[in-house]
Amino acid sequence: MDINPFQPGSGQMPPLLAGRDAAQNDIKKLLVKLTLPSGIPSDVLLYGPRGTGKTVLLQWLEEYCMKEHKCRVLPIVPSDTMTLKDQLMEALDTPQAQVTTEKSSSLGISLFKALVKRTVVQSSQARSLDSFLIDLANKKPLVLLVDEAHTMSAKWGRELLNVSQNVRKNAPFLLVLAGTPGLRDCLRPMKATFWIRTDKIPMGRLTKSAANDAISTPLHNAGISLDSNVLSQVVTESQCYPYFIQLLGSFLWDAAKEAESHMIDQALLDQAWDKFNRKKGLFYQDCFNDISEDNLEKEALAVAKAFASQEKITTGELREIVAGRPIYLDPPEEVKTTISKLKNLGYIWQGSEESDWEPGIPSLMAYVRTEEQKLRPSNSGDLSLGM
Ligand SMILES: Nc1ncnc2c1ncn2[C@@H]1O[C@H](COP(=O)(O)OP(=O)(O)O)[C@@H](O)[C@H]1O
Ligand SMILES: [Mg+2]
Repeated sequence: MDINPFQPGSGQMPPLLAGRDAAQNDIKKLLVKLTLPSGIPSDVLLYGPRGTGKTVLLQWLEEYCMKEHKCRVLPIVPSDTMTLKDQLMEALDTPQAQVTTEKSSSLGISLFKALVKRTVVQSSQARSLDSFLIDLANKKPLVLLVDEAHTMSAKWGRELLNVSQNVRKNAPFLLVLAGTPGLRDCLRPMKATFWIRTDKIPMGRLTKSAANDAISTPLHNAGISLDSNVLSQVVTESQCYPYFIQLLGSFLWDAAKEAESHMIDQALLDQAWDKFNRKKGLFYQDCFNDISEDNLEKEALAVAKAFASQEKITTGELREIVAGRPIYLDPPEEVKTTISKLKNLGYIWQGSEESDWEPGIPSLMAYVRTEEQKLRPSNSGDLSLGM
């Protein structure tokens, strides 16, 4: 039986990792630098709203490092219960074996595991984590991947950043942190300057042409073609948001298989819309619940109304929209906090600090405007902030 190639779901490697060439090249350059005696690269931050492909890019990086046999990779996520040292020891014992299981010989894995285990047991006792990692990285360049980095506690994070700083001074070591835009606020109390001196790779939406490829190439490889008008509707509706691209691709593939057709036309697309809209609705509902839990409905609506008539908003405008009144000098603390929360929820997005704000990826704005209409009692006034 044919297996649907699309992978809608958290951390699922898509059939085509489209449109990330720039990020991949940046990372490849750092890895080259890592292996040179002179250049220890700076730490790397991958940040973007959920569903933009941070986890799968880390997976690609892990495989790339291993295929090239250039470095040892340790993937971890912050833990509430384990110390950084215990987590690294555990990662040393397992991840590379897991990733290579299907591809390498099992004898190689057993030997590798046995060797690492012995090293870990001998070296971890009574030694500082720094000196243990320096020794390890001096044998083979070491890459530490931290996914969901925005969830680190201050204690865990401070230790991680200190270790990274000490190890990279003495051995080839690269730290890559991936997280939502909330990562910045999470890092600030740990080390104020950390954000400034890192290589930052924002993970936003794909370009239209990458979204096109991400949908059409896997279908094409399965012998299914798309009417060009259909493809352009699909790309538009996906908002070039990787998760939506996988959802749409998956429904289109199912529709073609059910109809035993090698061509997706408008009729098949119409079948896929229903399923897609239902899933998208559930996804938006989840996001809206997060907004409600933070008591940000009013502000979210004011922002949604502003974006109904403009594509981008300056920071100054956003502050006034959130405050619901003109702001002449410094904005009040609560306005800054609200903006931070909306950003961390992925409701609004800013590619870099200097750029204007855009609706989050994907845009929830139309959904929020409709929800507000539903919630508003027929005789009440507008919920918005006097705008
Ligand atoms: N470059 C890409 N091209 C196509 N689909 C992608 C791409 N990156 C991610 N995806 C898909 O998007 C979804 C979310 O990816 P994930 O890595 O879990 O995002 P994040 O970690 O940012 O929340 C997955 O279904 C994945 O297959
Ligand atoms: Mg992820």
